[in-house]
Amino acid sequence: MKVVRSIAELRAALAGRRDDGVGLVPTMGALHEGHLSLVRAARAESGTVVMSIFVNPTQFDEPTDLAAYPRTEEADVARAAEAGVDIVFAPTAAEMYPRGFASTVSVSGVLTESLEGAQRGRAHFDGVATVVLKLLLAALPDTAYFGAKDAQQVAVVRRMVADLGVPVALRVCPTSRDVDGLARSSRNVRLSAEERARAVAVPRALDAVTDAVARGIRDSTVLVAIARDVLEAADTAVEYVAIVHPDSFESVAMIEGPALVALAVRLGDTRLIDNALLTPG
Ligand code: PAJ
Repeated sequence: MKVVRSIAELRAALAGRRDDGVGLVPTMGALHEGHLSLVRAARAESGTVVMSIFVNPTQFDEPTDLAAYPRTEEADVARAAEAGVDIVFAPTAAEMYPRGFASTVSVSGVLTESLEGAQRGRAHFDGVATVVLKLLLAALPDTAYFGAKDAQQVAVVRRMVADLGVPVALRVCPTSRDVDGLARSSRNVRLSAEERARAVAVPRALDAVTDAVARGIRDSTVLVAIARDVLEAADTAVEYVAIVHPDSFESVAMIEGPALVALAVRLGDTRLIDNALLTPG
């Protein structure tokens, strides 16, 4: 496995390796099983698998969150190699944002202004869209892999790729979870043992909503209240619980077609997000 730091080196490493397809797995490192599940999906369908590792400063809304973000490059490179990555692209901030950098890709509307966009501020999804487009242009993959855990990120990237005609196929991989159901996240390491125990309320709240939909409840107000009850009983600080369309993120009042329940909570200093697709039976 090769580790490259510049776009020029990445292009050189990929030259002559494109015939069997290039798969890109964009990450911010601190790799866990969730990231590796994306690598496995990429490995199954691409001749060459590229993983990017870049803690993108422009998508962080709080400097403290950026500073506290775990950076474990040595372990990440070892894990990536073991999982079958061919090339790790780990650029510096100066490589991604050269002097005088002044361009931003901005997806507008409800999709970026609601939920995560509202909590984290406009700049968050601008930062994500811009860095993802730069990574796609740097690697020019046939396919790029994203996790369903960050459902709004997926919807934003999908919108950008469609709007700008970026020639890439997107694959969305299911959320990888610990045995008790908590979605794997690089931020979970920050939970104390007591917070980690209470965090199980997050997947339980999603399960409660899924079960309620299976029992025939269609009213989003009722479904949101069911989730809030579970989250509040575990003493988590609920930022939002919402039922939205999975592509547009417009709110859904009654579940009749595709819908997603998305939520964010704070447990101490740690912010957790999760979601589940709801299918009326
Ligand atoms: P990061 O949080 O490192 O996540 C990298 C990819 O792994 C994302 O597509 C994310 O949805 C996916 N992922 C994270 N946890 C997962 C889990 N438990 N199961 C399945 N997939 C999971 O998301 C980012 O980085 C950044 O915003 C990025 C896209 C790299 C742009 O900077």
